[in-house]
Amino acid sequence: MDYKRLIASAITTDGVDCEAAYALIMPSKDSSRGDYSLPCFKIAAAVKKSPAALAAEIASSIKIGGYIASAVSEGGFVNFTLDKLAYARDVLQAALEKGEDYGRSDVGAGKTVCIDYSSVNIAKPFHMGHLLNTVLGAALYRIFNKLGYNAVGINHLGDWGTQFGKLITAYKLWGDDADIDSRGVRALVDIYVRFHKEAEKDPSLEDTARAWFKRIEDGDKEAIEIFNRFKKSTMAEVSRIYDRLRVTFDSYAGESFYNDKMDAVLESMSDKGLLEEDDGAKIVRLGDDMPPCLLVRSDGATLYATRDLAAAYYRKKTYDFDKCLYVVAYQQNLHFRQLFKVLELAGEPWHKDMYHVAHGMVSLEEGSLSTRSGNVVYLEDVLNKAVDKAAEIIAEKSARLEGADEIAEQVGVGAVIFGVLYNNRIKDMTFSYSRALNFDGETAPYVQYTHARCCSLLDKCGTVDAAPDYEGISSPEAGEVIKLIDNYPQVLLSAAEKYEPCFVARYLVDLAQAFSRFYLACNINNAEPPVKASRLMLVKAVKNILCDGLRLLGIGAPVKM
Ligand code: ARG
Repeated sequence: MDYKRLIASAITTDGVDCEAAYALIMPSKDSSRGDYSLPCFKIAAAVKKSPAALAAEIASSIKIGGYIASAVSEGGFVNFTLDKLAYARDVLQAALEKGEDYGRSDVGAGKTVCIDYSSVNIAKPFHMGHLLNTVLGAALYRIFNKLGYNAVGINHLGDWGTQFGKLITAYKLWGDDADIDSRGVRALVDIYVRFHKEAEKDPSLEDTARAWFKRIEDGDKEAIEIFNRFKKSTMAEVSRIYDRLRVTFDSYAGESFYNDKMDAVLESMSDKGLLEEDDGAKIVRLGDDMPPCLLVRSDGATLYATRDLAAAYYRKKTYDFDKCLYVVAYQQNLHFRQLFKVLELAGEPWHKDMYHVAHGMVSLEEGSLSTRSGNVVYLEDVLNKAVDKAAEIIAEKSARLEGADEIAEQVGVGAVIFGVLYNNRIKDMTFSYSRALNFDGETAPYVQYTHARCCSLLDKCGTVDAAPDYEGISSPEAGEVIKLIDNYPQVLLSAAEKYEPCFVARYLVDLAQAFSRFYLACNINNAEPPVKASRLMLVKAVKNILCDGLRLLGIGAPVKM
């Protein structure tokens, strides 16, 4: 039931547009003031009245009845209270009827949204720096899909660049196949680090590296073969982590994919008169507030930006997207501003559909360092450590839990994902194992634990053979839970609109906390059958949402913990 719609259409005040009111009505923050509230400031300005006068006028003209129990003005607000029992009944029936599909919508029907996320680099460690864009992008991917969009998950692999010339040079000198087979990327990183150390003493290594990169560019068989081995070894490791994080992609078209697609794009930039020669390089000038975008270096080499430009055209042509998102850290703000500006200057109307979904940096309490120094925090190590710690806590809490290993995996990995998705994405943050694994905190384990508790309650209470009496859920504690259940579809819409999966994470904690208060205040198992029946409906609806919300974030929901 769309209560906002119901309230909006009960407004008959002259000059007030129902649609305008509809857009403004929101769930009340303070339940003692009612269930929904309409701030009148905007519409009052339109009809040239004071907000308080308009609010009073609207409140007195509302026809009471149906679900609306009262409409009261307070300052520039009208507060609406709903008929609690009818409200509870409808919310729960609607939620339960749809099961885990509750919250699904068709707002995105017929629309395609490309989401570029994770986009790891070949032969580089999958480190903490890639955690947030990976889980953030994957969460948006699932949320958009749930809202009816056709989401296209794209892993724009970093599989091109002069560093591969260095790596092949290092491999030829010190590479050990057995070591690479067993230690994968770590072995590659070791020889890459060694290259930089040795090149300081012997600069001729840089020339060798350039020559090898030229051979890759020219499609030389040996060079490509070696490079493909690096790629295969990296992807094996990366896929293992993607599986644990429940991350999937529809396309792995990375940077090298655009090698044969850049010429056409450069030509069209040149035809449009945008490409300028500058000291042998080719650039696009972007005006006074941005440095020019460098597309071809003086030695003829293309750049990251050139490949992104080709990728943007390719995505538009291939997917005809309505939106194209880039989930990438804010360090690349300038890169994306430049990219979008080039498209604007090129006269592409869809430049307005491109968004850089920027996010902050995650560091570990111990501190994290960069690749080149060889001192880097591997994401896999972080996941393993979190799972080990989860296993310890679980063993302490419930000594003989069946499938404890699998549960520890879900709890440990879930804690890491939730830990970094809980804050607004733009914020820098420090990840702490103990905070993320606090079973009573604002964490995945807490939400998972609440879910498991709902499961065991439903299991223990069985089914009740009586028509539900909704008086059983008329307490303020139950009311809070019901209001949250009602809000779930709206939370998903806002999360998609603002590209903020943290709205879902926060909501899940709110729901779990509200449920715990309800559970403490209301007896379920020993209540009279009709009361018990209504309470169990609530438990079931909460269970479904906790499970679905966790799923959207990429987190499992064990039925026992
Ligand atoms: N591989 C890049 C990095 O690790 C991120 C790529 C982001 N996507 C893009 N289309 N530029 O920094």
